[in-house]
Amino acid sequence: MRLDKFLSQTGRFTRAEAKKAIKAKRVSLNGEIVKDGKIKVKEDTDEIFLDGKLLVLNNQEVYYMLNKPAGVVTATRDDKDKTVIDLIDFDGRKEDLFPVGRLDKETTGLLIITNDGKFAHNIISPKKHVSKTYEAIVTGKISEKEVKIFSQGMELANGDKLQPAQLDIISYSEKDDTSKVRVIIHEGKYHQVRRMFGAVSQRVLELDRVKIGLLELDDTLERGEYRELTEKELNLIK
Ligand code: URA
Repeated sequence: MRLDKFLSQTGRFTRAEAKKAIKAKRVSLNGEIVKDGKIKVKEDTDEIFLDGKLLVLNNQEVYYMLNKPAGVVTATRDDKDKTVIDLIDFDGRKEDLFPVGRLDKETTGLLIITNDGKFAHNIISPKKHVSKTYEAIVTGKISEKEVKIFSQGMELANGDKLQPAQLDIISYSEKDDTSKVRVIIHEGKYHQVRRMFGAVSQRVLELDRVKIGLLELDDTLERGEYRELTEKELNLIK
C-alpha cells in the first residue's frame, strides 16, 4: 500500500497529517528518510520509522458482507480453488481476514468476512443461536409433511439430532418437479441444509444464504461483490 495510507492506518494521522510528517522528514523507510508519501511499502516486511520509532499497523477490525458466487471455496487459502478471501481487495494484512462460518463451494449468498475473532465466534457458536436463512431449489414437491419434520427437530442419517428448523414452501414447478423453499436454521453443521433434505429423500439443487440473524444480504451486490457493513448492520448482528 502507499506510505501515506500506511501512516494513516497506524491510527496516528489523517492522510493530510501523514503528508506533513513526511515533508518534515520525520519518516524513514528501511533506514532512509522518505520524501514521497505515494511510494509503495510492504507493510509486513518494510521497516517504517516515525521520529526513530518503528511503526506497526493499528489493525482495525473490518467487517465485509460478500455475495459469495458458486465455485469459490470458503477458506483463507487453497492450492486448487479460488477462495472467498481472494475476492477481497484489502489494504491491511490480508492474512488476518477470514470468513465467518462456512458455505459449501456451490452455495451462494451472504458471507461475512472479518478479522475480528470474537465477533465471528458470537455468530457461529451454536450456543448463541444466531439464525441462518437460506433459499433453495430442491427436487420434488415439498409438502406440509416435510415442514412438520423440519419443525420437530430431525435426526440426520449419521444420528445427528438437529434443533427445530423452519421450512416455508415458496413455490412448486410442475414442469421441473422442483420446489422453491426457505429454510431457517439455528446451528451450522457440515452440509446441514443438504443433509436435511437428504433425510427426507430430496436433493438440494441450488442453495443461497439470504440472511444471518437480522442481517440481510444487500440485493444490489452482484455475486462476487462485497462492501463494508454499515454501523447499523453491525449493531443488528453484534
Ligand atoms: N447447508 C449446506 O448444506 N450447505 C451450505 O453451504 C450451508 C448450509
